[in-house]
Amino acid sequence: MSPELYRLVHVACAFLLFLSLGALLAHEPGKAPRWSMMLHGIALLGMLVAGVGMMHKSEPKLEWQPWLYAKVGAWVLLGALPVLVKRSLLPRFVAFVLVLGLGVGAAWLGLVAQKPF
Ligand code: HEM
Repeated sequence: MSPELYRLVHVACAFLLFLSLGALLAHEPGKAPRWSMMLHGIALLGMLVAGVGMMHKSEPKLEWQPWLYAKVGAWVLLGALPVLVKRSLLPRFVAFVLVLGLGVGAAWLGLVAQKPF
């Protein structure tokens, strides 16, 4: 698969991830439709696979660097968020702000040509 295709899948899965998080956070904890939880898992997996695929297909090949670890950190937090909200460890409003912040941060890291770290 070409790096462009991996990039397209990565960004498409990011859209799906935030769509699923929107659906999950729009409902009372535990009351969200089943598809939103399924979409959340599928989108997370797709993003990671396409992200790592992009690293391997980039010219020159992208090695693991601090900005990529930061993106994985954002990915882990966005993955854990629905469970944290369901277990009442995180209020929905805080989760909403976190989703926005983590999403913008991870996208910014992917978009800036001269990586900040
Ligand atoms: C947490 C959510 C994440 C979001 C919202 C996100 C978003 C983005 C966006 C918007 C881009 C720019 C695509 C473009 O150039 O048009 C990008 C690039 C990239 N992302 Fe992610 N990403 C996330 C997580 C990850 C993870 C976990 C990895 C793990 C490997 C990863 C690896 C990459 C790579 C390698 C690039 C290409 C950077 C470059 O070409 O310089 N991303 N990401």
